[in-house]
Amino acid sequence: MILPLAKLQPGMHIARDVSNLNGMVLLTAGTALTAHHLRVLNIWGVQGVHVADQGDRPAEPPITPALRQVAENYVNHRLRYATDSPSFAVWKELAVRRTANRWADQPPSVGVPHGSKAPQSGEATPPTWPVAAVPATRHRAASNARDFVRQSAGLPSLPSLYYELVRNIHNGDASVNTVCGIIRKDHGLVARLLRLANSVFYGLPLEVDSPEDAVQIIGFNEVQNLVLATSIIKAFDKMASDQMDAPSFWLHSIACATASSMLAEQWYDPLPERFFVGGLLHDSGRLLMLLNAPEQSREILRRCQAETALAMEIEQQVLGFDHVVLGAELASYWKLPDSLWEMVRCHHNPAAAIGHPKDAFFISYADFIASVLEFGKSGELFPYPLLVQPEHEPFLLDEEQIPLVASELETQCAQLFSIFTS
Ligand SMILES: [Fe+2]
Ligand SMILES: [Fe+2]
Repeated sequence: MILPLAKLQPGMHIARDVSNLNGMVLLTAGTALTAHHLRVLNIWGVQGVHVADQGDRPAEPPITPALRQVAENYVNHRLRYATDSPSFAVWKELAVRRTANRWADQPPSVGVPHGSKAPQSGEATPPTWPVAAVPATRHRAASNARDFVRQSAGLPSLPSLYYELVRNIHNGDASVNTVCGIIRKDHGLVARLLRLANSVFYGLPLEVDSPEDAVQIIGFNEVQNLVLATSIIKAFDKMASDQMDAPSFWLHSIACATASSMLAEQWYDPLPERFFVGGLLHDSGRLLMLLNAPEQSREILRRCQAETALAMEIEQQVLGFDHVVLGAELASYWKLPDSLWEMVRCHHNPAAAIGHPKDAFFISYADFIASVLEFGKSGELFPYPLLVQPEHEPFLLDEEQIPLVASELETQCAQLFSIFTS
């Protein structure tokens, strides 16, 4: 069937090649649409696309009633605070199926968060905190979040290469050659750039094999954000990584980054690249907390489990501030743009965003999706409810879009996780 552009959704499969007016093939038959494809089709002025019937999609493996019941108990326990979120029943059903599939397929894969093995009985299993067992160390007193950031041991700085790139791009005199000259100083970065350009995230029909082509195709802003994203992960790598389950944390962050990028593409945001970094950074305050205050982090976990409480409340009681404020202070310390600062600062309360309210809402929505579907863990036992103001309502996914977005997130997240963490 032919669908107009406005009706296309990520995850739909193309039934016939799609060409522009010059006959150049943009997408080939069989391609699963991504949010980026939708943007490309919009740019090329494509009016309609032949898509395969939903019935052509591979069926999901069956789930036994017993396994489903165990998964449902677990999900009911986890999602206790999220029940008033829009389309909750649809999200919950996806979470139950994802949990049951994860437990049916042993051994665990990349999508399986730390410690989430199938329980032996019908009892709900409390989620786990991604902190490995380490000797308790005392954290010196930090009167507030700013002091905490400044006093954090081995606080990483971003590489000079990132600031050099920002200076060049913002001065307006950057060329493909100057940008490539800068990123070539880091061979790992060039390799990541090529892998990213060739990933499903971009879904390009041709293979990109030179940094110059990659920079030209994905653009300066995206390169700048790729460098920032890679630098953030590397910066934290240098800190004591034995104090946390880093893969689980980054899986959650990358899922939030990917989902927020998908939302931005879906609504044709003119500069969607910033959302990936915002998603990656949104819980960085908790990372800092885990790495520099492990004793208090364990206390927060213990109380969250004992009191079945949301972590932010307990963080404030134990430390005097929460991971949201801490992450925003880190963004300030790194001199990141205001939009990123606000994405971090308002990711659990987008109504508080003043300068960039839509940006904060997309990160909040993406965090909700990543948390409810349990792509990794950042230390939150119970997902936050999605808080929606009237001005956010037009950006909510409808109940037909949600499974397609979840399926696309699964595909993109697995690839991006491998690109950014290997
Ligand atoms: Fe958070
Ligand atoms: Fe989060």
